[in-house]
Amino acid sequence: MTNNNKFKVVLAGRSERSLKTLAEALERTAGGVVCSIHLISDGQADSLSDLEPLPDVLVLRFDGESLSVLAALVDSSADSRPPLIVVGPAGDPEAMRLAVRSGARDFLPEPVQADDLVAAVERLRNEPARGTPGPRRADVIVVNGAAGGVGTSLVACNLALAFATESRAPTLLLDLDVAGAPLTGFLDVSAGLGLPAALAEVEYLDEQALPGYVAKHHSGLRVMGTPAKSLLSPGDVDPDRFAKLMAILSSNFRYIVVDASHSLDPVAVVALGMARRVVLVVQQSVLQLKQAARMMNALCNEIGVPSDRILVVVNRYQKRSTVALDDIRRALGHEQLTALPSHYKSVVASVDSGIPLLEYDHTSPVARGIIELQHEIVGGVHVEHRGLLRRALPIFSGD
Ligand SMILES: Nc1ncnc2c1ncn2[C@@H]1O[C@H](COP(=O)(O)OP(=O)(O)OP(=O)(O)O)[C@@H](O)[C@H]1O
Ligand SMILES: [Mg+2]
Repeated sequence: MTNNNKFKVVLAGRSERSLKTLAEALERTAGGVVCSIHLISDGQADSLSDLEPLPDVLVLRFDGESLSVLAALVDSSADSRPPLIVVGPAGDPEAMRLAVRSGARDFLPEPVQADDLVAAVERLRNEPARGTPGPRRADVIVVNGAAGGVGTSLVACNLALAFATESRAPTLLLDLDVAGAPLTGFLDVSAGLGLPAALAEVEYLDEQALPGYVAKHHSGLRVMGTPAKSLLSPGDVDPDRFAKLMAILSSNFRYIVVDASHSLDPVAVVALGMARRVVLVVQQSVLQLKQAARMMNALCNEIGVPSDRILVVVNRYQKRSTVALDDIRRALGHEQLTALPSHYKSVVASVDSGIPLLEYDHTSPVARGIIELQHEIVGGVHVEHRGLLRRALPIFSGD
């Protein structure tokens, strides 16, 4: 086989010695692969954007000090670079977030075993040739609460159902609450193998195996959660494995709605790094508003979510509250809000019966507000809810 016919891999990074070790292992173990090394010196983060000739796979190894290389890749166009495998420090949420946002097809935490790198390269080699349309990546919508109990799960569950039924597109509801896992209960489905098993077996997951790990709601919505017998502490979930799982899920669904509860732990950060939209659920109290402002600040300034990707939902909205919608707008620096009224009777009956609100009472103002939220996410146009609230509950009139 001439070099022209071989599968070309460029290994890029700052340490020639580590790259050589990986290249030797690859050429020794994977047949028909030719490797070359691209050294990146400080301040040359963008040298990766014009690799000539373009390799079949780019393996980027970086350390804590060279995050800027990855950040530059995030900013470059994903269409103009080869499929990317990232090798980096384990358990570094910032590194993980950048890897996910750079569109990396695989993330291998250090120290990398040669077998893992070979397997990752082989997976990309076996994909359909470039130029043929690859699997579409899902739009990820992460729902976060400003605090516990604000209605995050209610919104996530019904928003996912709205995607499945209004868009009629393959939709997954992913429950990151591994310690409580309420969402299979909200939909009265059994979890199947669920999230912990999918994480444990992520290397073997593919389109054929996936249905065993997700529950199917009769609406068509798929749900991945944690079965009651496998509940975990949040710290037990490995963000690196979770990032791999998200990559697989996102090529199998059109929409993924993630219930991230009110946590910004490393696993939630991975999901947030992939999010096309983030829905922040708040309620009206002075304390909650402070928490919401802190959460907004962390989302935008620590995690790097652009503020125009964030939608704010005021759940259990009451006209006669010490905290008005304008206070929330000011505190969060966010003009457009979606207000969902408190509808205790239908919400509680829906949760108790395992029939999601969109099915239990499709015309309730909460259900209609969530459907409008889904339309807003798809269409990008905010819907003014005051008229809806007035019609639904006369108590809101005069707002
Ligand atoms: N709009 C609403 N109207 C009436 N009751 C509501 C509304 N939203 C939420 N609730 C009530 O609040 C409870 C908690 O909601 P949910 O489980 O969605 O909150 P959460 O933020 O996900 O909580 P956790 O922090 O425990 O995950 C629901 O069981 C329901 O009784
Ligand atoms: Mg919840």
